[in-house]
Amino acid sequence: MLYLALACSTGPALSPEAERGRTVYQANCTACHNADPALDGPLGPSVKGSSRALLEARVVRGKYPEGYKPKRDTTLMQPLPAVSSSIDDLAAYLQ
Ligand code: HEC
Repeated sequence: MLYLALACSTGPALSPEAERGRTVYQANCTACHNADPALDGPLGPSVKGSSRALLEARVVRGKYPEGYKPKRDTTLMQPLPAVSSSIDDLAAYLQ
């Protein structure tokens, strides 16, 4: 019971998709973005609420969806095609 209480104390339960997205985010994005996606990180802006279309364009292809106004006009972030199979999970986590 104590173990269960501790396990639950880390915050509201995420869906399995969002939980996978959290793992991908922590492993691949937090060198630059904040571990809390709602906050700006050391290099990258907050990414909470990023749409699936934005994630797919920016993370996989290094582009922005048509008509999207980027939060920064720099181009420091290289595309990360290795996470292309995790875009749904990332979107679920960041929604
Ligand atoms: C090398 C540092 C770095 C890494 C690693 C990185 N980013 Fe970024 N990211 C940035 C920076 C800096 C920007 C601001 C635009 C630019 O300079 O490229 C950005 C911009 C973005 C944007 C666009 C935000 C907006 O609304 O304009 C999204 C979405 C994003 N990153 C998601 C991610 C995700 C998801 C990952 C992990 C899979 C990731 N980034 C990994 C540095 C990084």
